[in-house]
Amino acid sequence: MVKVLVVGATGFLGSAIAKEAASKGHKVTALVSSESQSKKKEDVQALKSAGIEIATGSLESNTHELVNVLKTVEVVISAVNGPALALQTRLVEAAKQAGTIKQFFPSEFSAFGAIGEDSVPLLFGPKAKTRQAIEAAGVPHTYVVSYGLASYWANGLGELSQKDRVPPAPTGDNKVPYFGTGRTKFVINMEHDIAAYTVMAIGDERVINKQLHIRPPLNMLSQHDLIYIYEDKVFRQLCIGNRLIRSPVTESELDAQISGAPDDIKRTFLQLQKAFTISGTMTPLGANDVEASAIYRDYHYTPIAKYINDLISRFSAQLAEE
Ligand SMILES: NC(=O)c1ccc[n+]([C@@H]2O[C@H](COP(=O)([O-])OP(=O)(O)OC[C@H]3O[C@@H](n4cnc5c(N)ncnc54)[C@H](OP(=O)(O)O)[C@@H]3O)[C@@H](O)[C@H]2O)c1
Repeated sequence: MVKVLVVGATGFLGSAIAKEAASKGHKVTALVSSESQSKKKEDVQALKSAGIEIATGSLESNTHELVNVLKTVEVVISAVNGPALALQTRLVEAAKQAGTIKQFFPSEFSAFGAIGEDSVPLLFGPKAKTRQAIEAAGVPHTYVVSYGLASYWANGLGELSQKDRVPPAPTGDNKVPYFGTGRTKFVINMEHDIAAYTVMAIGDERVINKQLHIRPPLNMLSQHDLIYIYEDKVFRQLCIGNRLIRSPVTESELDAQISGAPDDIKRTFLQLQKAFTISGTMTPLGANDVEASAIYRDYHYTPIAKYINDLISRFSAQLAEE
């Protein structure tokens, strides 16, 4: 049993990590602001029901308050997002002052560790600065390089954040863009598996001061692979939905979309799109890199083909009931 603080436990990935850690017998505390405790009552109740203790505070709390919370734990896992990514340096400073932290997981959960900051500067810049602060402070750490989350990448068949493409709406849009050749392989993992691997890494000496890449062999897929998995299930097995029309987007067309993006968020999404599906994120692993499915061999991760199949099966069962 390890005493773990999760920051961002009311969020998408943070809630999965906090609950997974509690279910594995760790003593989990979630740092939740008082505002969030009143706005997200159900989420906070779900954390409490999972045996998680709530500590009131946020990355905006003063350093003294953060130090006091950190002194009660040995491991910190941050899963904050947006503007809070840049505030993590405050958590690092508090961890340094507390002196109790044996492992710090900053909010990474992306491909940053594989491809660096330049391709997606708005999102990866604060992640890079957090790493610099952790290393300068000498705080032991693990960086989880999770690559794409399934609901962001698999549901859109490789087009980022098209969450409604799968399962198929029979009357919906049946056009699917593919970028470049559509054959660049990238990694997609289910959120639950990312949480599970992160929790397995708690207290594991093999991942201290290392990058933990989650690259399970069956989850390296190209857009054409994803489209094939979809069509195999929908047309050959179930005979539902519309045929997909594959619509190519060249690198220069995507570059033009990036330059003309109306705002930073849209630009960041398009830069991620390029990094994953054209430039590629499958850089070779180095001496400081460990691959999760290789060291946690007994864990049965979900192949993305199964994830897509299950999504469609549930949809088809609903159709049959209606
Ligand atoms: N690879 C991928 O495909 C992918 C996709 C999505 C996200 N991610 C990454 O995963 C990580 C988590 O993202 P997410 O989507 O799970 O985030 P999210 O759902 O937006 O949740 C963010 C969490 O951070 C908390 N938070 C925000 N500001 C805070 C502050 N000042 N102090 C303390 N807590 C604060 C939020 O609390 P309240 O809202 O309750 O205040 C919430 O619990 C990020 O690093 C993100 O880049 C990766």
